[in-house]
Amino acid sequence: MPSINHRLGYFTESFIRHMTRLSDQYGAINLSQGFPDFDPPTELLNALENTARQGPHQYAVTWGAPKFRQALAKKQSRFMGIPLDPDSNIVVTCGSTEAMIVAMMTVCNPGDKVIIFSPFYENYGADTILSGADPIYVPLIPPEFSFDADELRQAFEQRPKALVLCNPSNPTGRVFTAEELTYIAELAIEFDTFVITDEVYEHIVYEPYRHHYIASLPGMFERTLSCSSLSKTYSITGWRLGYIIAAAHIIDGARKVHDFLTVGAAAPLQEAAVTALNFPDSYYQMIRSDYAARREAMLTYLDGADLKHTSPQGAYYVLVDISEFGWDSDTSFCEWMIREIGVAAVPGSSFFHEPVNHLIRLHFAKRFETIHKAGERLCRLKDRL
Ligand SMILES: Cc1ncc(COP(=O)(O)O)c(C=O)c1O
Repeated sequence: MPSINHRLGYFTESFIRHMTRLSDQYGAINLSQGFPDFDPPTELLNALENTARQGPHQYAVTWGAPKFRQALAKKQSRFMGIPLDPDSNIVVTCGSTEAMIVAMMTVCNPGDKVIIFSPFYENYGADTILSGADPIYVPLIPPEFSFDADELRQAFEQRPKALVLCNPSNPTGRVFTAEELTYIAELAIEFDTFVITDEVYEHIVYEPYRHHYIASLPGMFERTLSCSSLSKTYSITGWRLGYIIAAAHIIDGARKVHDFLTVGAAAPLQEAAVTALNFPDSYYQMIRSDYAARREAMLTYLDGADLKHTSPQGAYYVLVDISEFGWDSDTSFCEWMIREIGVAAVPGSSFFHEPVNHLIRLHFAKRFETIHKAGERLCRLKDRL
């Protein structure tokens, strides 16, 4: 029998999607996979309805419909503080998920090294391996989940081709400071390394924290592939709209990879999403305060349940410490929790390179009534000690 690609042996199927399937099977409240159970903005739904009748319904330009790229360039120029050319600085992808693997395949040759902070969003390990590169893991140290400056320098001394930066970070909720980003940027310039960012939570940041784009730092635009998407900002994870923003010579390469992987993101959805990209600043203020209230509701329940947890600065995840429950496996704990408590979480071990087994990840991108229902159930956890 011929054997399949040996690289597939180096990573498992997604734990996040596995937990969602299990949650559906047992009818649990799914706080594992990060997607909202509330509707996208009404204006966006109206735009979708119009597009259904008026089109377009055929392929868009491979690297993104012109109207979408123009609206995106305008919006991101405003937030990133960099002038962006819709024709040379953008490739539109099927979510940040595609953007990340395209970015990796654009810059890496087989055998190259890529720095990944651990814990990390599980796709990055697989993306690196599928690109033929080898990950160098640098731990983010709790409770702040910052990196050790010397350890990061040592990783750069191994001459990596790229560093992956998830900011705000899933699963830690960390929002990297301007000083941390400047330090990473200085190393990237000194060692001539690309930075591939995943900034899908760029608009979900809690007071007093601020999101800074590393691409905006001096000397960084020409070596940064800024990946992000519309999934989280506009509550449209199913629309699969993402993008890479980078210097023209990088985008030239990324367009080729993207074209042969997927041809393009859905044309009607790009058309409708222009409405969202044109939202005023008040929309972004609204989602910040909205998510701050959801965060507050969730953390209040966790405190009430007397569970130790992280306090996210950004994104919509919280890591809960389950050490006191005495389970050997966080995966078994999560499976038990789905069945017995009716709440689905993701085992923390799926995010860590290190053998960490005492954390689970919950998300709170849910209606308040869902958070309350899940919170009530989580309060019963301690009774099972
Ligand atoms: C850090 C991070 N990147 C990417 C994604 C997926 O984004 P998209 O829907 O744009 O593919 C997620 C989804 O949870 C995420 O948490």
